[in-house]
Amino acid sequence: MAFGWIDERTELRRRSGLLRTLRPRPARSPLLDLASNDYLGLARHPEITGAAARSARHWGAGATGSRLVTGSTELHAELERELAAFCGFEAALVFSSGYAANLAAVTALAPHGSLLVSDAGNHASLIDGCRLARGTTQVVPHADPEAVRKALGTHDGPALVVSDTVFSVDGDAAPLSALAAVCRERGAGLVVDDAHGLGVLGAGGRGAAHAAGLAGAADVVVTVTLSKSLGSQGGAVLGPARVIGHLVNAARTFIFDTGLAPAAAGAALAALRLLRREPERAARARAVAAELYTGLTAAGLAAAGPDAAVVSVRAPSPELAVRWAADCRTAGLAVGCFRPPSVPDGISRLRLTARADLTEAQIGRAVRTVRATRP
Ligand SMILES: Cc1ncc(COP(=O)(O)O)c(C=O)c1O
Repeated sequence: MAFGWIDERTELRRRSGLLRTLRPRPARSPLLDLASNDYLGLARHPEITGAAARSARHWGAGATGSRLVTGSTELHAELERELAAFCGFEAALVFSSGYAANLAAVTALAPHGSLLVSDAGNHASLIDGCRLARGTTQVVPHADPEAVRKALGTHDGPALVVSDTVFSVDGDAAPLSALAAVCRERGAGLVVDDAHGLGVLGAGGRGAAHAAGLAGAADVVVTVTLSKSLGSQGGAVLGPARVIGHLVNAARTFIFDTGLAPAAAGAALAALRLLRREPERAARARAVAAELYTGLTAAGLAAAGPDAAVVSVRAPSPELAVRWAADCRTAGLAVGCFRPPSVPDGISRLRLTARADLTEAQIGRAVRTVRATRP
């Protein structure tokens, strides 16, 4: 029977504690939220939701087609100009998601015969970009510039090094300066995914590449999502104008995808302007992460030292991770739960995300809840 094989897979997942199901979410939850990626607390900010509504009314609910077919609005152009300027790059191109932006950058910047060097801890969207690219991929050990140098040394043609700036599982930062130096030495391009760095790292939240002094570099391309610190939806690629012009012509997730919805573009633009006005939000998100980490480790929990806003705590098994997260929820706290295949080393984790708008009382409550419910 067609699809009959699915039942066996589902049963296997259930038995290993790896079955995922969707949980309903009310518009207003009574839970204290440390599960979302709304690092700056902007997703429900009236200035941002108001901009989303106004943009939808003015430009329409949807973009109505690929921007190459139905045209490109001034709203998209404005967002691209301001995003590029904020992060210190020559140009930007927005996509309907960060996932699509990563597929675009990786596939379009690795021509036939390329070598792609990918960190073992990279996000699924970068991994999928490598899978779709017409080159050979070499996966290198996590955060290891020497391994990248070795991999590049085995290849003669075009090469692209691909890495998250902040890894989503443990919240640790990539050695960006060392990676850029190795790439330069070998004439390779560097694509870094700053999904968790934009709005959190660098001066006023300008991101990890800016912090590492790589903004505007001719051989560095940065991808971002608009759905985390900017509280909206969508993604973008930032880089030299020649790269962005090439993506318009070669990136399939730009050419064959409906443009970013006006509401999302308007919300992201408003969030970016708010962040420029209130740059202290970025530092506050980092400080909240540090407080969460200190509180959790003081209780003997195996938390990883956060380099940005993600704090992860190791759990003994996938089943216990699920139960731990469920017990937190029962106690009024929403936390993320990462299990295989979302963790490269097979170790399940609770994942807490710091938000700039959390109060001291909320941070204390979150730490106490995670401690009290530990398995
Ligand atoms: C590191 C990283 N890159 C890319 C993405 C994808 O971005 P988006 O949700 O906008 O598709 C995510 C998460 O969603 C992420 O954590």
